[in-house]
Amino acid sequence: MIKVAPSILSADFSRLQEEVKRVEDAGADLLHIDVMDGHFVPNITVGPPVISSLRQRCSLPFDVHLMIENPERYVEDFIKAGADILTVHVESTVHINRLVQSIRDKGALPAVALNPGTPLNALDYILEDVHMVLLMTVNPGFGGQSFIKGMLKKIRELKSLIVTRNLDVLIQVDGGINEKNALEVVNAGADILVAGSAVYNSPDPASVIRKLKNLPPL
Ligand code: DX5
Ligand code: ZN
Repeated sequence: MIKVAPSILSADFSRLQEEVKRVEDAGADLLHIDVMDGHFVPNITVGPPVISSLRQRCSLPFDVHLMIENPERYVEDFIKAGADILTVHVESTVHINRLVQSIRDKGALPAVALNPGTPLNALDYILEDVHMVLLMTVNPGFGGQSFIKGMLKKIRELKSLIVTRNLDVLIQVDGGINEKNALEVVNAGADILVAGSAVYNSPDPASVIRKLKNLPPL
């Protein structure tokens, strides 16, 4: 069963609690929280205080996507704030193995993310240690960008690596996912779809989430 993780990046931040409730009621499986520092990516979003406030008001698992430099400094803060899955970019550290182990040791599920231009072989010696791989299908930094078509091949290749190595690793796809392309992304091997603008810009997020999961309307 495909899971959908709405990204709050496209929510109305002045009403964050209601916006989170809106997707929870609409059938979201996870809440995707994009953390940006203005260095690793050219945008700045939220940090641990916002996440821990939301944690009191939302029962969905928190899927926290760190797009920051020096992520090792903040692992503990994000886990204490409520991250269930903590995703770090392989491009953001020279010690990915240590970082993944420290996420696991501190009690969250570790995931690694790859920018569109980063080859899959960056995962060769870390794949078996992670809960999930996030493949970026836009260049990270902003919501509402277009899906990079060439990434379908990358999703298929990652899926076949996981199958060949007989691993229990989930594939999350993030960036430009909508009702039109969800099926081919899932057919390529995705297990979890992140969707920001497609869910939040819709007057009927429940129907969008069902379409992303390829379920018939209620
Ligand atoms: C982009 C973020 C995404 C983004 C997705 O840097 O990592 O999670 O919010 O938004 P859409 O679905 O609008 O591309
Ligand atoms: Zn994201």
